[in-house]
Amino acid sequence: MKIQNVLKIIYVFLASALIFGFTVDTSKLHFTNSENRANIFQPGGTKWKAPKFADEIKNPLSGNSEAAKEGKNLFNVYCVTCHGEKGEGNGVAAATLNPKPANLSSAEVQKQSDGAIYWKITTGFPSTAMISWRSNLSDKQRWELVNYIRVLRNKK
Ligand code: HEC
Repeated sequence: MKIQNVLKIIYVFLASALIFGFTVDTSKLHFTNSENRANIFQPGGTKWKAPKFADEIKNPLSGNSEAAKEGKNLFNVYCVTCHGEKGEGNGVAAATLNPKPANLSSAEVQKQSDGAIYWKITTGFPSTAMISWRSNLSDKQRWELVNYIRVLRNKK
């Protein structure tokens, strides 16, 4: 084969790869997003469920009330606009949102393990207002928030 023809084939291949090949949904390559997607499509609807392994993640700050205080400060900066001061899901931004921010003081949230709550804060829920806090908050900060969410249970 002539070198020009070989080059032509390579160009055509690259062009079609650009047009078709690389439009692969890269979010599918992202493990946590595909976890979430799997959950969206599982029987039972659109409820946000943490995967089983999340329950095994140990809270390194378990029972640490100082950490809960740090968590409160973080909550009032990053979370309060949606989840509201007492975590009831009625922050100032809540009215405009669908789905609504979760009521973090509710039994439905409180019955979940620390690991599950931590996992949700870490991954966020794609296509909702609940973003992933993995890159904005450190690991420690996310656990501090978990400890503060436990405090919200008793705030009625
Ligand atoms: C822009 C609005 C918004 C902000 C800011 C926000 N959230 Fe959320 N959050 C949501 C929404 C909406 C949901 C419900 C998602 C769903 O279940 O479909 C949610 C769900 C959650 C859940 C899951 C509750 C459950 O049902 O199990 C947790 C935990 C949570 N948020 C914690 C936080 C924390 C901690 C912060 C601050 C770091 C935060 N959120 C900031 C909107 C927000």
